[in-house]
Amino acid sequence: MARHGWRSRAAQIKAPDMTDSLTIRRPDDWHVHLRDGAMLEAVAGHTARQFARAIVMPNLSPPVTNVALATAYRERIVAALPEGADFTPLMTCYLTDNTDPDEIRRGFEAGVFTAAKLYPAGATTNSDSGVTDVANIRAVLEVMAEIGMVLCVHGEVTHADVDIFDREAVFIERVLAPLLADLPQLKVVFEHLTSEEGVKFVENADANVAATITPQHLHINRNAMLVGGMRPHAYCLPVAKREKHRLALRRAATGGSAKFFLGTDSAPHAREAKESACGCAGIFNAPFALESYLAVFEEEGAIDLFEGFASEHGPRFYGLSLNETRITIERTDCSVPAQIAADGTQLVPFHAGETLRWRFAG
Ligand code: NCD
Ligand code: ZN
Repeated sequence: MARHGWRSRAAQIKAPDMTDSLTIRRPDDWHVHLRDGAMLEAVAGHTARQFARAIVMPNLSPPVTNVALATAYRERIVAALPEGADFTPLMTCYLTDNTDPDEIRRGFEAGVFTAAKLYPAGATTNSDSGVTDVANIRAVLEVMAEIGMVLCVHGEVTHADVDIFDREAVFIERVLAPLLADLPQLKVVFEHLTSEEGVKFVENADANVAATITPQHLHINRNAMLVGGMRPHAYCLPVAKREKHRLALRRAATGGSAKFFLGTDSAPHAREAKESACGCAGIFNAPFALESYLAVFEEEGAIDLFEGFASEHGPRFYGLSLNETRITIERTDCSVPAQIAADGTQLVPFHAGETLRWRFAG
């Protein structure tokens, strides 16, 4: 990955970073797709190995739209965990135009829902039942603001007239800024942030607005998808954007601000569903997520700020306790396989075929 002047200076100043291992509070993943059925069985262990908790996205087919469905899904996740795993799935409710505010309140108060997810209809995988206009869920959002429940937002507009690379910036202008002006207390996590506009918006917003950042958006820009051939395994939504956006995200993630935290957006799709004339969006990064993020923090000379991003900012924003156990990541080569078997097919992980410089040791 190219180095930049200010960054290598920082790396020199932070010479104590040159340790052989890093022990930190056990991290959580604040945005993950665990899927269902055989795929869930195949991927749950990868997330549970590195993370204590995860905010589980509800975009199943059909989506997780009520307390009963979330309770049943949580049980299936727990049943799919490897023997002895210490992992808590935190469930989300998929918002639709018809979500009942009482159901949201009931699910939150019962400890079933940790958050609710706003997918603009048609924005991404399994979002067809998403919200067509936030005005339709005004009563739901009002309840959420009142009870302090987090709204996780897929921040892209879907109108055909908006260029796909501008969809996040336009969402801020047309949807998110007006929404927060209307409900200034609402706790919002801008999920998988991908743009400089997004970084600025979150930085300038009040403390009730935060964002998750994925490993892929810290590592790749849109060239990774399009140079030298179409590369479906670098395709996810929101799409990676030009280099200046990647650099803005790296500054945000590694800058120590409590508004930014780890959310992998690990989104497995079978190899054949990605390598297709109409390939699915999503990058499967769960198996080497911490190694991937830590490479970025090392390159930015900010290893000392990794624990905050991975293990502290998220729970503090959600109002949850910090994990008490610790994990260690060692500085040693870690080869990422070309593919990982799952559900009778193969998943191509992020960094497939590369060697990362850190390895999660448990
Ligand atoms: C996600 C998926 O496949 O469920 N895909 C993705 O590219 N990130 C959906 C999402 O988070 O947008
Ligand atoms: Zn996602």
